[in-house]
Amino acid sequence: MKIQKPRGTRDILPEDQKYWQFIFNCVNKRCQGFGFGKIETPMFEAKQLYVRGIGETTDIVEKEMYEVSRLGNITSDDNEDKESLVLRPEYTAGVIRAYLENGMQTWPQPVKLYSYGPLFRYDKPQKGRYRQLWQFNFEIIGDDNPLTDTLLILLIWQIFCDLGLKENIIVDINSIGCKSCRPKIRKKIVEYFRKYSTSLCVDCQKRLEFNPLRILDCKVEKCQKIAVSSPQILDNLCDECKKFFTSVLEYLDQINIPYDLNPRLVRGLDYYTRTTFEIRDKNDVNRQASLGGGGRYDNLIELLGGKSTPAVGFAGGIDRIIEKLKEKEVKVPDIKGVDIFIVQLGDKAKKIALSLISDLGQKGFGVSCLFGKESLKAQLRDANKMKAKFALIIGQREALDDTIIVKNMDEVSQETISMEELDNYLYNKLSK
Ligand code: HAM
Repeated sequence: MKIQKPRGTRDILPEDQKYWQFIFNCVNKRCQGFGFGKIETPMFEAKQLYVRGIGETTDIVEKEMYEVSRLGNITSDDNEDKESLVLRPEYTAGVIRAYLENGMQTWPQPVKLYSYGPLFRYDKPQKGRYRQLWQFNFEIIGDDNPLTDTLLILLIWQIFCDLGLKENIIVDINSIGCKSCRPKIRKKIVEYFRKYSTSLCVDCQKRLEFNPLRILDCKVEKCQKIAVSSPQILDNLCDECKKFFTSVLEYLDQINIPYDLNPRLVRGLDYYTRTTFEIRDKNDVNRQASLGGGGRYDNLIELLGGKSTPAVGFAGGIDRIIEKLKEKEVKVPDIKGVDIFIVQLGDKAKKIALSLISDLGQKGFGVSCLFGKESLKAQLRDANKMKAKFALIIGQREALDDTIIVKNMDEVSQETISMEELDNYLYNKLSK
């Protein structure tokens, strides 16, 4: 039987790498500018971290996590192997675990951390929905000022501008209240939807019991129709939450970030409090494929065993952003080619080429050569494909008289120089 990649996963081939590199470069540049530190957390964590952090009745925890187990006999001594582990379905809970475990509560606050990499969710595979998905992720931990929410949205906005998607995107924003106003909001929502319980989708009938606010942003049409006339979260926020949210919106106005006030944006993870937001294509009015989402989560750190600490964060969906870049035909910088490609003709030339790869490589040049091909034309074609700046050609004659032909790949001209001059020549030309 032919072995194939698992459903919902993809191979990212060399020709697509420029998109990934482009996004990582933009994220690194802006995050460094905003004072974020990069953090890598494990790809698998204790299942309990997500059960407690994301919420037991969320889709992610109920049906989308992959369990990790070791194969082979597990003896009674293998205590640690009894702990249930899962592939990370998101970054936030893992980053907060790392914040607590590495004593970051004693660092100057807020602590700003960013990451990017693959995550795993058992989702129904389709365009923009994968089982191995990629995110870039930001967390600002230890600050409860509405300016921080705005600053995070500004960082995200600037990254989308750098990516060339400024004209295509909009921020959907809402507030879902805090510990003190949520019970009242919840009660009103439950009272309203209970009247329609049999007309709701199966998931929302369950949500009515455990997670009623989520009914508001269910994507099923019949639920959306019922939700149109439901009580508004925003009308029922406590004064503190109202003031906080008004400030976030005023700050966004001040820096001209376009947003849509979306009173039904709740999001699918239980840890959110107050501000919730998503980035979407302006034309995606039904919010079918958000390009990223985030919000404030002031209770999560305490829930995971730390002292009460406010925080706000966001994750961008890299797979969907790349699909958007392609759809909008955004010109993405090519991956840098090699400095030098060595063309060798004949056995003696091959040996010289091998030494050159070693010597020039040690001096910091990027050097490439393909020994399998014999003809000049084929090797120059490879040099072009690899976007080499210079081709160094060693023919039989050059191999004998210790010279080399240097061809600038952007020009027609070429010149012969002695081997002795080569280092200086390359340093000058490649400004090393
Ligand atoms: P999320 O909304 O679950 O939030 O995911 C963020 C983004 O990841 C989505 O907007 C979407 O672009 C992308 N995404 C999600 N699932 C898939 C999938 N199956 N295939 C492709 N892309 C996908 C979080 O993960 C939160 N941890 C964000 C956050 C950080 N909140 C606070 N800090």
